Amino acid sequence: MSNHHNTNETLHSKIEKNIAVMMVLILVVISIGALVEIVPLAFQKDVTEPVKGLKPLTALQLEGRDIYIREGCNVCHSQMIRPFRAETERYGHYSVAGEFVYDHPFVWGSKRTGPDLARVGGRYSDEWHRAHLYNPRDVVPESIMPAYHWLFENTLDGKHTADKMRALRAVGVPYTDADIEGAQAAVAGKAEVEAVVAYLQQLGTVIPPNTPMTRQAQ
Ligand code: HEC
Repeated sequence: MSNHHNTNETLHSKIEKNIAVMMVLILVVISIGALVEIVPLAFQKDVTEPVKGLKPLTALQLEGRDIYIREGCNVCHSQMIRPFRAETERYGHYSVAGEFVYDHPFVWGSKRTGPDLARVGGRYSDEWHRAHLYNPRDVVPESIMPAYHWLFENTLDGKHTADKMRALRAVGVPYTDADIEGAQAAVAGKAEVEAVVAYLQQLGTVIPPNTPMTRQAQ
């Protein structure tokens, strides 16, 4: 065939025989593929901006979030509904990135010993949650979830709540000065269980139940 073809073949065989050049070129090709997928995400509004109506956690909810992490609730419960029918039928609208922009750290989790909690807010009464946390078997006889009675005995002093909110504000969570000033008073003296329930009751509520699953929902 033509000389042109032969030249190409020579170049190809040269590269194949030089493993260092080959490795560099493989890396270049793979990183183009990765960049094409990753870079646009950093500029896409619906993954970097909060969904409409998203509010930062209140002082009490924030303390609840920290107790949730302390007690390892996230080890048994995920907070991430994947866009599969089996999940959306059970848990509701799939999770969207804009719901999590104020979360530091994320508590998505990866293990479901218990159900996903991404939209548990409003599904049960506060009373149900208190009974369930005190002894899960009282309300769900076959439950294997641990009992958390100390949440009813421990009270919050709120000494560090304002500092936590200041730290979150530094990474972009829109707390106002008034939120921060009122933080300690909002939590001091309350039982830990109240904070956990307040946290659970807001989970996923920014996208109301039965919202149709279209891009508009975001
Ligand atoms: C050892 C694993 C485990 C841990 C740790 C755990 N849970 Fe559970 N959780 C379960 C299981 C299993 C269920 C399902 C049975 C039931 O409702 O009790 C459940 C159910 C729930 C439900 C009801 C969900 C629904 O949609 O019906 C809530 C709310 C909940 N857990 C909150 C918590 C909180 C808050 C913590 C931490 C204080 C926690 N869980 C820790 C295993 C766990």
